[in-house]
Amino acid sequence: MTIWMPNIEPLPGPRYRAIAHAIGEAVSAGKLVPGERLPPQRRLADALGVTVGTVTRGYAQAEHNGWVVARVGSGTFVKQAGTRAAFDMVCSPCDSSEAIDLSLSLPPPHPLRQQALSEALSAMSASPAALTRGVSYLDARGSEGHRDLLAKWLVALGMPLVSHELLITQGGQHGISLVLNTLLRPGELMAADALTYPGAISAAQQAHLKVVGIAFDEAGMDMDALEAQCARQPPRLIYITPDQNNPTGVCLSEARRSQLVALARRYDIWLLEDGVQYLPVEQRGTPLYQLAPERTLFVFSTAKVLAGGLRIGVLRAPLELLERLAAGLRAQSWMVPPLMVDIVCHWVTQPAANMLLNWQTKEISERQKLTAEVLTDYQLRGHPRGSNVWLMLPEGVRAIELCERLLQGGVKVSSAEPFCVGSAPAPQAIRICIGAAKDQQALHSALVTIKQCLAQPPLAPVTV
Ligand SMILES: Cc1ncc(COP(=O)(O)O)c(C=O)c1O
Repeated sequence: MTIWMPNIEPLPGPRYRAIAHAIGEAVSAGKLVPGERLPPQRRLADALGVTVGTVTRGYAQAEHNGWVVARVGSGTFVKQAGTRAAFDMVCSPCDSSEAIDLSLSLPPPHPLRQQALSEALSAMSASPAALTRGVSYLDARGSEGHRDLLAKWLVALGMPLVSHELLITQGGQHGISLVLNTLLRPGELMAADALTYPGAISAAQQAHLKVVGIAFDEAGMDMDALEAQCARQPPRLIYITPDQNNPTGVCLSEARRSQLVALARRYDIWLLEDGVQYLPVEQRGTPLYQLAPERTLFVFSTAKVLAGGLRIGVLRAPLELLERLAAGLRAQSWMVPPLMVDIVCHWVTQPAANMLLNWQTKEISERQKLTAEVLTDYQLRGHPRGSNVWLMLPEGVRAIELCERLLQGGVKVSSAEPFCVGSAPAPQAIRICIGAAKDQQALHSALVTIKQCLAQPPLAPVTV
């Protein structure tokens, strides 16, 4: 039996987290070795002067972080794979408060993510070819091998893309920013849904573009409004998330996709199609890059499928733009770190990648159902398979006040302001990122808080 006994006294924060932290450090330092059993929970609880429940939570957190595994009836054991990579525990990311943060659009957490990363790192360190690539300068577009492999993965995900149209980026945000900075000149106009992904708005601001919001409804961007804008001043580029508007989840209808393409052709407008918010293939419409390959740039990323921290994405562009975009990328950062691309390429070829995605798809559906049940009395929007829910507030409730009240109750969500394009007034609504909660229990507790805060008088009436 192990004699490992942590000293959690000097560690800050809740005790369960201190226990998990101590496990991570011990694994990292080799004080706990793969296969070693952690002390029985009661014994550790007595030794540390905490409850058994606290130890259970600490072990569960350590398991969640990918360092240990619980085996029913026999105890908790240090994981075999990737245990030396536990140094990241020292930073214990985003765990500084007890608040449930539903303001960031994240895929639901699962230890398979850390495990897949750990396995990829082990594979990298044992691969002379990957190590050589990792210390080399490569083509700004990404190596041919990397692009081929990523293209295969995208095809398997239902995105019919070919490797010679691709450029590897440091995530979806980088793809957007690269396109705006490379194809548009300061002062030119970008159009987008009147509510859209804030990263696109800030990328446009950074590129000194003008932005205009186009009204949209349940079928997506309003084509009459777009046409009127084109007649006044055609935008140089339209940024759009056709399968799932972020924040509202609205999907652009097939008819409007065709109209959009026709308008883009008539007025010679680039289309920047953002597919980062992942949906299973049967939930997606016809991609714009298929309808108008000659003018569509498509951005995708590993962030919502594998993990945001990897910072790897792809940009699909018409062939004649690739060299300009590559020159833009070279000017910014020469290339994307090959090691990170290798990690992604390894990860997506492992069975765990599909397991994770299948689990995630099911988990998001369950979270959607849970949200609909708890907030049944309220007006909810959002794609039924998407990980964001848009809650239209009842008459008289102000989003800003509700957000403040929720924060006091330990729940963080976003109001509509960051999503507003141009100066149109923000609707009274909040975005709830249901993927961000650590599990369904945490989500449930946050949703109950939201329901209670909505029911609480007196939220000041809206003054118009
Ligand atoms: C619509 C949309 N596009 C792009 C991004 C940014 O993706 P990445 O994290 O890969 O930069 C996000 C992130 O939430 C997003 O929601």
